[in-house]
Amino acid sequence: MSIVEYTAQPSRVLFREGRSYVEGILLPEILGGRPCMYIHKVFVAEETRRAGVGGMLLEKAKDFAIRRGCHKVFLICKTDVVGFYKGCGYEGCGYVEDQHVMTLRLGGKVE
Ligand SMILES: CC(C)(COP(=O)(O)OP(=O)(O)OC[C@H]1O[C@@H](n2cnc3c(N)ncnc32)[C@H](O)[C@@H]1OP(=O)(O)O)[C@@H](O)C(=O)NCCC(=O)NCCS
Repeated sequence: MSIVEYTAQPSRVLFREGRSYVEGILLPEILGGRPCMYIHKVFVAEETRRAGVGGMLLEKAKDFAIRRGCHKVFLICKTDVVGFYKGCGYEGCGYVEDQHVMTLRLGGKVE
């Protein structure tokens, strides 16, 4: 697997593997006084699903967030992919309208 990292804008990062990608947005000192990363998009090409690509892309995003001093990564998703994010270490922490808010703690105090 060869994952490419793009940081065209200082606050956005894209990890790509072929047609598959994860996009993260760095948010400033909110939610506990330290930056955090919001995962904006997650997509794995149909023909490579269930082969670890999504998990690897999220792992790259997590490593990037740690390097940038983030204390958490969070995202919003539908019920059918909650299992995928739980498998990647995320925990459910609430709802926005009918979607799940999932959080990955990176250490330190989380609000
Ligand atoms: C959800 C998605 C990103 C998963 O990507 P993937 O590359 O297939 O996932 P992985 O192969 O890395 O899976 C990691 C683990 O999650 C599990 N998993 C994958 N998709 C799952 C799902 N929909 N529900 C529950 N578990 C799932 C896998 O079985 C695997 O577990 P294992 O390690 O015990 O075998 C991909 O199916 C996708 O792009 N779907 C369409 C777009 C979408 O729904 N994006 C999310 C928007 S919030």
